[in-house]
Amino acid sequence: MDREAGAQADKPSTGAKKHEIVVEPLGISLFAYEGETVVEAAARQGVRWPGVCGGIAECGVCAFELLSNEEDMAPPTAIEGARLRRLRRRPDAVGPLRLACQIRVHRDIHVHKPGVRAPRN
Ligand code: FES
Repeated sequence: MDREAGAQADKPSTGAKKHEIVVEPLGISLFAYEGETVVEAAARQGVRWPGVCGGIAECGVCAFELLSNEEDMAPPTAIEGARLRRLRRRPDAVGPLRLACQIRVHRDIHVHKPGVRAPRN
């Protein structure tokens, strides 16, 4: 694959399916193209999502609580699962943890992630 074709493959086609990501406690909505990670969707819309390792599942800083029904989500991959097992959940956590840099969005989701910053207008 040449460089230009690779770059075009990264861009969703105009007919790509979109899903809503509602982020609490900020109360904003993002949209993700089918199969995009939460971090990729946030970055594309100028939203700052906490993270340190550059999206390689090492820091765990991007982890969020999933408020949507977990049964409708794809299970964590081996790399995501390994990192999640080393994370501590807050005592008042209401949903399972997932990594925003790893989870791929295939439906509308509702999440809780303190520290997310909306874009400046
Ligand atoms: S950004 Fe480091 S684990 Fe997701």
